[in-house]
Amino acid sequence: MNEPYERLLYSAANAAEVIKECIEQDSLLLLVCHNDADALSACGIMVGSLWRKDARFLARSVNRIDELFRQAEEGLVGADCIVFLDIGSGYVKEIHNRFGERRVVIIDHHQPQSLDVPKGFFHLNPHFQGLDGATQVSASGLAYLVSRALDEENYVYSPIAVVGALGDLQDKDGQRRLRGVNAKIVEEAVERGLMHTTEDLILFGRSFRPLHVALASTSSPFLPGLTGREDACYSLIASLGIKVKEGDAWRVLADLTEEEKSRLYNGIISFLASKGLPASSIARELIGTVYELAEEDRWTYLRDAREFAWLLNACGKTGNAWVGMAVAAGVRGGLLEEAQKLLEDYRVQMAKNMELITRPDAMTSMEHIVVINGGDLIDERQVSSLASLISSSGMIPQDKVLIAWARHGDRIKVSARASRSHVERGINLGSILSEVAGSVGGRGGGHNVAAGADVPADALELFLKEVDRRVGSQL
Ligand code: C5P
Repeated sequence: MNEPYERLLYSAANAAEVIKECIEQDSLLLLVCHNDADALSACGIMVGSLWRKDARFLARSVNRIDELFRQAEEGLVGADCIVFLDIGSGYVKEIHNRFGERRVVIIDHHQPQSLDVPKGFFHLNPHFQGLDGATQVSASGLAYLVSRALDEENYVYSPIAVVGALGDLQDKDGQRRLRGVNAKIVEEAVERGLMHTTEDLILFGRSFRPLHVALASTSSPFLPGLTGREDACYSLIASLGIKVKEGDAWRVLADLTEEEKSRLYNGIISFLASKGLPASSIARELIGTVYELAEEDRWTYLRDAREFAWLLNACGKTGNAWVGMAVAAGVRGGLLEEAQKLLEDYRVQMAKNMELITRPDAMTSMEHIVVINGGDLIDERQVSSLASLISSSGMIPQDKVLIAWARHGDRIKVSARASRSHVERGINLGSILSEVAGSVGGRGGGHNVAAGADVPADALELFLKEVDRRVGSQL
């Protein structure tokens, strides 16, 4: 991977040169990103880097790229230089049609639509160097490489790049740890003293949160019957004969002996198995590398990188992306309090959503896919997180691809998730969703394991049938 990595660094340095020129010419820059944790991390890194350079810029998050296109048609996009983060690689032609006369930098890790790069455009994408954008590096990692090329001192953002990669579930390639370019960024964060890593059970807050609270806050993987249920977690731990307190002090996961940890691990597996869930596949997701941000206060939700990613998702998926962007850029104080409150509300909301859409009548099984019908009950911005939760919970048959959807007006937001074994058998959800959505008048794209689309509501049935057929033929 060294040679592709060197080429990626070279490409990131070139992207940084374009941004530097825009800053030196005092051009107004517009940062445009998507609304998830990786996007907000990427944008936060770039916001922080531009602040440090005293650049003139605006930053905004969009639910869909069409929102920006619509505003451009109304003459509302006035910047001279547009930097797309975590969005854009699938829409180079459309971006060129609208913004062809401006400086455009695309920093994205999704499968590119084509290898052609229009004049005046700079397109940073790991697929050009033969690196997989679903597992090797995410948009925040790319934004970090560009930011480091802008200024060495921007190493301070290395933990945020890790947060984004984890938010993008790039640690799910067999074992729960980051690899490739992501691992190089982790190495740098650790060397700089900004991050600690440990191999352990992946409970949110292993070193600082009471054991039952840590287990209940763990949502990656989602543990049906335990996630969000402190009472159930407390009972389980007590029934395993593990002390929750030492004197007056709550015990944390890091205090447990190896024997106690293995008792806890086996207890969780038995609990899930007793509910008829495929406990062994969830169990694999429970062990791996824990990433802690050394400089964050342990009483915040920012200390554990996976939880930090959840906080950013909570901001982005409730219409408060700017709060997440600012926290990722380094703002704390009142804004952090607001972000933490958003996360608490989001957890409650997601628990309700899970109850709603995991009812048998909300699921339809087709030949190769399971469809989760969110209808009007689910906020379309939250379909994507729900799809990720359900796919990590073992609640749907392992051999089927998951498709979740919700309506917004006369459109449908779709999220699709496959397993690694589907991908090994040839599935590429990004290309399926891009082609099928395109054929029914919508847009779609993404990675081989995770993809999304937006389609007209009256085409939903046709869309689902065609996705089912294509999944079958790719398998
Ligand atoms: O929306 P969701 O998170 O389910 O999408 C999965 C992946 O596909 C994300 O990385 C998202 O950015 C990408 N995607 C895309 N084009 C779309 C919708 C989603 O590239 N139209």
